[in-house]
Amino acid sequence: MYDPLPSQKTFHASEARFKGFSGPIGCGKSQALCQEAIRLSYMNPGRLGLLGAPTYPMLRDATCATLFEILDKNEIPFEHNKAENTVILGDTGSRILFRPVDEFERLRGTNLAWFGLDELTYTQEAAWLRLTARLQCGEVLWWYFANGSGMAYYDDDTQSAFQTAYGRPLARFLTPNDDPSLNGFVDANFLRSRLASYVRGIHTYVAGRHPGVWFELLWPLDVNLPETKRLNWYVNLPPAWMQKTGSEFASFVCEGFQFGGIDRNVDEVARCAAYPFAELKWSSSDCGYLMGLFNPGWPWEREFLASRRQRPSVVKMWAYDQICLYGRGVPLPSESRTSTLTDGSE
Ligand SMILES: Nc1ncnc2c1ncn2[C@@H]1O[C@H](COP(=O)(O)OP(=O)(O)OP(=O)(O)O)[C@@H](O)[C@H]1O
Ligand SMILES: [Mg+2]
Repeated sequence: MYDPLPSQKTFHASEARFKGFSGPIGCGKSQALCQEAIRLSYMNPGRLGLLGAPTYPMLRDATCATLFEILDKNEIPFEHNKAENTVILGDTGSRILFRPVDEFERLRGTNLAWFGLDELTYTQEAAWLRLTARLQCGEVLWWYFANGSGMAYYDDDTQSAFQTAYGRPLARFLTPNDDPSLNGFVDANFLRSRLASYVRGIHTYVAGRHPGVWFELLWPLDVNLPETKRLNWYVNLPPAWMQKTGSEFASFVCEGFQFGGIDRNVDEVARCAAYPFAELKWSSSDCGYLMGLFNPGWPWEREFLASRRQRPSVVKMWAYDQICLYGRGVPLPSESRTSTLTDGSE
């Protein structure tokens, strides 16, 4: 029994990964949140969700009170475990954790199918970051540089797997820019699919134990540049990763510390920040840019602005502790604009 108001309807209809509902006092935010929590509990039978609010009193007096009212009014069977501060829904066995998120350290390690926060405005950002944490597959690629004997493909496992498959030794690649089309791409394709299946193996293992886990790909453009590092690009970017569908990644974060930190080239920075959605087939809302900040003289403010102009969904810094150690100026730089173009994602 729930007849959503137009604004609540819009909120419920949104299919965004994260959605929000703001409005004046009493406009039905807590109601919409709790309705959504019940819906998500039914859609994720047996799984765990979290309903949070900035502090324990807010949680108890507004959010939980609203949820219990809805459960009672609609005669939805549930069990309230006061000691654990959880609710188990009788129909599906789904659990809802009630948690004040001011102690955000405690949110670590929860394996949630969904979460919802009431009064988000008063919630610390750190709590949000804990709840949206994901596993990042970084540095999973074949190593980027050669030494005197060539590229780093020649461990025993790889060599014998190739030998078994093709009845000859793997070709000797000497530099990151070797031609991947050697032997009709057979050798490069072998390395590329070995990488893809290695990462798929990690994903399958983790996802089997933590259903709903999100994987993010951290992928460096500078060491895999298609123009000057042809072999690296070919081997380290399996076709399945060029778009979200079929990649098993929820997001693609691109980095290229060489561009800002060594080349000091904002055009390269801009290309890198947009690479997965400008040159591959990802959409910008699933892409991020990881900027470095460590060598002396890094033009990090320019890099921050140049990358943000490309509008990836997030610009992350590597690393936050270095901002603190170097005593970099915060707030982060911003630029004034006379006009704004928006795609509605902000
Ligand atoms: N769709 C609806 N139909 C009928 N009543 C509703 C509906 N949505 C909310 N209400 C009622 O309106 C009142 C305010 O709703 P709610 O507490 O969800 O608002 P809120 O936006 O969270 O308020 P606050 O800003 O105080 O947190 C409650 O009594 C709630 O039961
Ligand atoms: Mg409320």
